[in-house]
Amino acid sequence: MVTMNVRVAGVGMTPFGKHEDRMGRDLFADAATEAIADAGVDHEAVDEVFFGNFMGEFAEVQGHSGPLAAESAGVPAPSTRIESACASSGAAVRQGVNRLRVGDADVVLVGGAERMTNLSTAEATEALAAAADAAWEIRPGITFPGAYSLMANAYFDQYGGTREDLAHVAVKNHANAVENDLAQFQKAIDVDDVLGAPTVSSPFGLYDCSPISDGASAAVLVSESYAEEHGLETPVAITGTGQGTDSLALMARESMTRTPAAEQAAEAAYADAGIEPGDVDFAEVHDCFTVAEVLALEALGFYETGEAISAAREGETTADGDLPVNLSGGLKAKGHPVGATGGAQISEMTKLMRGDHVNSDAVSDATVGVTHNAGGTVASAVVHVLEVVE
Ligand code: COA
Repeated sequence: MVTMNVRVAGVGMTPFGKHEDRMGRDLFADAATEAIADAGVDHEAVDEVFFGNFMGEFAEVQGHSGPLAAESAGVPAPSTRIESACASSGAAVRQGVNRLRVGDADVVLVGGAERMTNLSTAEATEALAAAADAAWEIRPGITFPGAYSLMANAYFDQYGGTREDLAHVAVKNHANAVENDLAQFQKAIDVDDVLGAPTVSSPFGLYDCSPISDGASAAVLVSESYAEEHGLETPVAITGTGQGTDSLALMARESMTRTPAAEQAAEAAYADAGIEPGDVDFAEVHDCFTVAEVLALEALGFYETGEAISAAREGETTADGDLPVNLSGGLKAKGHPVGATGGAQISEMTKLMRGDHVNSDAVSDATVGVTHNAGGTVASAVVHVLEVVE
């Protein structure tokens, strides 16, 4: 297998939240323009574009968004939409990494965009539900807060844990977002706020859920040789990539409390990078609901199954803990425009590693980070390993 490292030359991201006057294409144009300028490459240098988007047909009656993304970015290159529900742009990043590794390209533009807040909450909920199994979940009426609440209740039954444990995940991620101007919620909350919020789907209240968001993310990835030839400053490399798959429907799985797609993705990414879970200094994980962060930490091998529930409460994953998780604010507080989320993890982690993120001080000695991006109830998952290389 080819193991050439891929360099992150530039990143960009719109603020996540409500963008009433902007279409998905406008949001991606902003993120891509920033990433291309940050990379210091010409638009014409981009060999290929991989663009993540999940619900364009629902939100904007817009399909065929691969070429539209390239057009919006002003990049005259082949461009393909990658769809893997909430893991769409994580999968787009992976396509770009693989394209560079086989030597078919020197410069790729990857990322994604989603427009959601132009829909009502009911409409957005219905659109998001398309990531579930149409025959066995959507027709009976499942929603994503409902599906993840089944997983949370199964976890409590099997391993213990309380709503309060989960509340600490939300409190931590909101705290991390307070100074992040790109985050949807720059608002600190406490455990009482979480426990006292209106119920969405038991055991989840409002603050256990990621919000409905608009936004876009982008990154310019280059081959090592291109970076060297063109004198680009690229201190961050993507050294490992992995992807996994599971049954779409929860009912078809052996366990509702494990996420094997993420376990496969992590195992592959770690082997690719030649690292172990213990080498990882910090992580950006897919906390679409508070319990999802717990399941992610176990799938990534940081905790044994059934043991990550108390990680946030014990301060192990807070900004000053041994393993800071979601220093960006995560999906919970940074926001979750689904097709943009995986790319945003790369953007935020790159800045955290370069030292130009507002929370960089929390990881000033870190050299290895991991991103975990999940689709649906983790029927798809993409994991990337990022390392500081110079
Ligand atoms: N966390 C914190 N605050 C939130 C929030 C969230 N997830 N969602 C909304 N809010 C805030 C809003 O900012 C607003 O605050 P304000 O009154 O100060 O302006 C208030 O709560 C009401 O917002 P509204 O949009 O009317 O909420 P809602 O009840 O219609 O929707 C949820 C709330 C949780 C149902 C919605 O955000 C949701 O469906 N989230 C899950 C999205 C999802 O499933 N994503 C895919 C994951 S796989």
